[in-house]
This record gives sequence, C-alpha cells and structure tokens, in this order.
Amino acid sequence: STYKPLATPFQQLGLAYDDVLLLPNETDVIPSEVDTSTRLTREITMKSPVLSSAMDTVTEAQMAIAMARNGGIGVIHRNLSIEDQANQVDIVKRSESGMISDPLTVQPDATLTDLDKLCAAYHVSGLPVVDKDDHLVGIITNRDMRFVNPDDYDSLRVSDVMTKENLITGPADISKEDAHRLLAQHKVEKLPLIDGNGKLAGLITVKDFVKTEQYPDATKDEQGRLRVAAGIGFLGDAWQRATALMEAGVDVLVVDTANGEARLALDMIRRIKADHAFDGVQIIGGNIATYNGAKAMIEAGVDAVKVGVGPGSICTTRVVAGVGVPQLTAVYEASRACKEFDVPCIADGGIHYSGDIGKALVAGADSVMLGGLLAGCEEAPGEKVLLHGKQYKIYRGMGSLGAMAPRGKKSYSKDRYFQADVTTADKVVPEGVEGQVPYRGPLNYVLYELVGGLHQTMFYVGAHNIPELQTKGKFIRITDAALRESHPHDIVMTKEAPNYTGFHS
Ligand code: XMP
Repeated sequence: STYKPLATPFQQLGLAYDDVLLLPNETDVIPSEVDTSTRLTREITMKSPVLSSAMDTVTEAQMAIAMARNGGIGVIHRNLSIEDQANQVDIVKRSESGMISDPLTVQPDATLTDLDKLCAAYHVSGLPVVDKDDHLVGIITNRDMRFVNPDDYDSLRVSDVMTKENLITGPADISKEDAHRLLAQHKVEKLPLIDGNGKLAGLITVKDFVKTEQYPDATKDEQGRLRVAAGIGFLGDAWQRATALMEAGVDVLVVDTANGEARLALDMIRRIKADHAFDGVQIIGGNIATYNGAKAMIEAGVDAVKVGVGPGSICTTRVVAGVGVPQLTAVYEASRACKEFDVPCIADGGIHYSGDIGKALVAGADSVMLGGLLAGCEEAPGEKVLLHGKQYKIYRGMGSLGAMAPRGKKSYSKDRYFQADVTTADKVVPEGVEGQVPYRGPLNYVLYELVGGLHQTMFYVGAHNIPELQTKGKFIRITDAALRESHPHDIVMTKEAPNYTGFHS
C-alpha cells in the first residue's frame, strides 16, 4: 500500500468523539424523513445502523429479537456453552417468520407438561401435532388448554386435548394473501401447511402478520425471519461452535477478539471463508484500530470490519496494556482500508451519546456497536437492582474478572483476551471492569432516542441518507472549554432528559 503509518513517534494525533463536533450546513432535510439504512456486511443491509454488543450483560435472544425488530441487529455473546448459544440463536430465528419452514412440533403422546415446557422455552402459544412420519394429526393451542387443570398436566397427553376435527390447513406453496384470508375466515391463529404426501411442510401464524405491520423496519432474512449474529472465538472448540451456530440458522458470525490482528484469529476467518458449508453466513472480524489492521482482516476475507481497541465504557485495555487508538481516529484510519476494498466498517465502543453515532458515521463507519448504552434496557440479560431508590442493571466488560473467572462457572470468553491457558482466577489479567448502569426501560424507547438523535444530526448536516451524511459531514476540532460549553452548564439539572443523563468523563 502507499499508505505509511507513523514513521516517528508522537507525530500522529489520536482523537476521540468528544474532541470534535460536526459543522451545521444548509439543509432541506426533515428529521423524520431521513433514510438511515446502511450496510452491515457486504451482503446484509439494515434500516438502523446499530448493533448490540456480544456481551453477557447486553445480548441474548431477547435483546437480539428487539434489536432486529427495530431495524438493527444483536450479536449473541459467547460466554455460554455451545449448546446454550446455539439455542439462543434458534429462539431468535423462530421468534417470527413469514412462513416457518421447519416448525416446532409435538407428538400426540407427549404429556401436557412437556408441551408447556416447549411453549415456554420458545415463547409460542401452540404447536402442530405430528405422528412419527410427520403427518399432521392435530393442533394444540392456548384455546385447547384453557379449561385444563394444570394439576392434570402430567397425566394428560397432547392427543387428549388437541383439536383434531376440521383442521384448517393450506398447501405448502400458499401465497401470503391466501394464507391471510384463510386465517381471517376461520378465525384461527395458526395455519399448518401440508405437502402432497400429507406431511407437515410449514406453519404460518397470525402473530407474524401483526409483527410485520408493527415493525416495518425489522431486519429480516429472505424467509421473513429476524436476523441474528453471534460471537465466536478462534481456539479449542471454536469450529464446533461456528458449525452449531450455523446449523441453528445464524446470519452473521463475529470472530470476536480483543486483537483481530492475532494470527490465530485471521486463520479462523480464512478457514471459515474457505469452507462452502458457511456460504450463507456473513463474517465480521474484529477488533482492530488501524489501517493495517483493517487491511489484514479484509485480506483474510471478512464481510465487515469491526473497529475499537479500548474505547468501551468498561474497558481497561488502554491502561492495563497501554495499547489502543482513540476511537474517532481509529474509525477514520480503519475505514480508509474498508473504503478501498468496499467492505463495511463497524465502530465498536465509546459511544456515550446519540451525537457520537453521527460522528462515527462521518468518520467512515457504516454502523455502530453499543454496549453500555443498551445494558440498562429491559431486554438485556440480568435482573434490575435497586440502589438508593433508583433501578440499575449490571454491566461488565467481557475482559473483567467476573466474565473471565466466574465463581463456580466456566468462562468461555477468556480467549477473547488470549488468556485461555490461564486456569486460576488469581492469574487472570483483567482488561475490563464490572459495574452497573441506570435501568432504561424497553429497548424500543432507548433506540428511538438514539436513532432520533441521528435523524437530528442528518438534519443539521443536510443529509437525506447515510452516504450523503458521510460526504457532507465535516468536523471541527474543539477544546476542553468548548466541550464544557457543549454540555449543559451553570445549572443544577433537576430532571433527566430521556437522552441525556449528565456529563460522563
Ligand atoms: P461501550 O462503550 O458501548 O463499549 O460500553 C462496548 C464494547 O467494549 C468492548 N469490550 C471490552 N473491551 N475490555 C475491553 O477492553 C473489556 O472487558 C470489554 N468488554 C467489552 C466490546 O468491543 C464492546 O462491544
């Protein structure tokens, strides 16, 4: 490459989001009308440029479902056994669908207790009943269960209470319109689809029609299922993990390490890209923080590059290891390589306020990954905790002691920090901290404010869409005094705004 990184030390300046502002510009943009669609990877687009972090206090199935419904995507963390992580992916993929081609079913001789467990695990209200040859023999829903005493669940079989007469079914190739008509005409909620041999070939549910209307911006695959990503490592059983996630229907695998330039991580990316079994899955690689790091990832074959070494709100990499690049500069440098090779770029970590999203995009990112800003949402894993009358949720770094050496539990994420060989807690070198963030309520309110802030950015800059924001957006560097001026000052805040909780340094 013709690009030369630093020849001499101290020459290059590293800037953070707080070091700059965007210049206002002539505009005819109406904030509510802007188009925030963007490329997540080479082949996947989404309506909102946001990902939720692969962290055990941020993204499991519930968060991933909410993220995809609201036009972004969630990355299921990997501090779980292979089976549990694949199961989380499965829950997202089954949560809604145009047509479920491989529906969950139950056999007629299952007990109602078995059925109840299945319905609870997958948040479904009923199931088609099939015999051993997959022939549809009935359907069982809430309606059939309504007058059954739960004390009898162990003794009763599905065949005792299921609906078996006058089943409403459709052909396997039914159109969306015809399916909707049948559901409405017969006032039923589930329509099993039957192939030429009388076998169950799919399922269409009313819930999915309602969800499509409710969440028009949802990030979905060709079959109308929500998209989901999942983190993997590069050591030990990483290949088995990748295979299990792919079989569960994952759309994107994120090779998730604290240093994406590690040879083992690059080898893992090359291996996945070379295997045709993974052809339908996009690969994100990370994290890197330089032009050369991004180029190495792209040469290994990634479909998007994730940028960020140490900007995260729970990260201590920069102080523990003395390594990192201030995030605005990291995004700018990495995205130069991404643009050269037409590969999307994700800015991961260090977003404090909605205004930072626009800054990341102008610096060259196509989307942003958020940890701390989403950890307080209802959908993030973990319970709310009450402290001094205020509600909080736990948020911790994946390189924190708690995540790398959990008491009485196995950690699956130590290799993110290249410490998989460390076996005792006192030998772990943490690169993150554990803490709590204020409880923020459901994700859709939080994202509304965050993406709403981006709409305002686009209005001020005069950009109707993200590519226009990237070309029209111009930075001005600011001083510490200007930063103080930018935040509320000379006032005692008496009420928190939904999108501003104070000056966090
Ligand atoms: P924010 O600022 O959104 O950052 O809370 C989330 C991102 O931080 C990264 N991450 C870590 N980095 N030590 C680190 O150096 C850690 O323990 C740690 N845990 C998460 C990760 O990229 C995440 O998306």
